[in-house]
Amino acid sequence: MDTDDVVVCRCEEVTLDEIRAWIGRGYCHFDELKRILRVGMGPCQGRGCRDIVLRELSRATGEPLEAIDPGTVRPPVKPIKIGLLAYGGEDAPK
Ligand code: FES
Repeated sequence: MDTDDVVVCRCEEVTLDEIRAWIGRGYCHFDELKRILRVGMGPCQGRGCRDIVLRELSRATGEPLEAIDPGTVRPPVKPIKIGLLAYGGEDAPK
């Protein structure tokens, strides 16, 4: 199967060949690939591609999948009212 067109990260349009090329250059950590290629930085925050990239890292390095560092996972951030923090999640008294 030709891997040129296989898109691994749909959010950032990163192909399997790009990932393999950067792994071949010595980028063997998810966070390194994230910085170079933006895999895992799209709207889904890696839910669609992280496992595939980790499997590819495992295959390329010969390390078991469980031994591959999954990289930094940050929760989605959205603005909230400061009163929610001050009153433990309850609306502020009026
Ligand atoms: S598929 Fe890679 S960040 Fe969404």
